[in-house]
Amino acid sequence: MKAARLDKLLANLGYGSRREIQGLARAGAIRLDGAALADAGARIPLDPDLPERLTVAGEGLDPLPGLCLMLHKPLGVTCSHKEAGPLVYGLFPERWRRRDPALSTVGRLDKETSGLLLLTDDGALLHRIIAPKAAVAKRYRVTLDRPLRGDEGAVLAAGTLMLEGEDKPLLPVGFAAEDATRCTVTLHEGRYHQVRRMFAALGNHVAALHRDRVGGLDLPADLAPGDYRVMGAGAIARIFAG
Ligand code: URA
Repeated sequence: MKAARLDKLLANLGYGSRREIQGLARAGAIRLDGAALADAGARIPLDPDLPERLTVAGEGLDPLPGLCLMLHKPLGVTCSHKEAGPLVYGLFPERWRRRDPALSTVGRLDKETSGLLLLTDDGALLHRIIAPKAAVAKRYRVTLDRPLRGDEGAVLAAGTLMLEGEDKPLLPVGFAAEDATRCTVTLHEGRYHQVRRMFAALGNHVAALHRDRVGGLDLPADLAPGDYRVMGAGAIARIFAG
């Protein structure tokens, strides 16, 4: 089991500088199993249940590093650390913005796309998910401005569709029509604004876009827009079982 110095652990989770953490410890504000931890230099085993056992000012500790989250991204927030306007990172506790390693989105959804967005502070996991070799499938529910022509499934399956400004055709895309103006598509790669540009190349226009599945992981029906959940090992494994 890995261990960390208490002051370093809490500073890296955004609770303050190491000096501030030392002050909190001296004041008896940090407790492990109910007993005050006065020595901020103490080494603490990073047991998975530490967030329930260690309290800071009476509150359970934030999730330990190695965090992976699923977020129901609402419309109108941007997947960026520093653009103007509302950002996805604003949906989490303020302290989490000071975490080191920092939390990052696994790929991006457009500002006007909703649905399942993963975030992690684990760089190796992030790369495993987005690596072209892993080809983790992403499924989108698409609402179009104009009725489907009827040939979209065949064109997308052929792996020949070229996006404007690119010189390599798209990999084959899974397609299922729902009704005249709605369909689902399943991508195995992630090009910039891929779904919107794909339907532009097919002579249509995307009116609404929602991602409901990444690999074998579905957006839970009871996860409301703007809400998020910490993922355990089982949920993380489902990403790669799609
Ligand atoms: N394709 C898009 O066009 N936008 C997204 O947000 C995701 C995929």
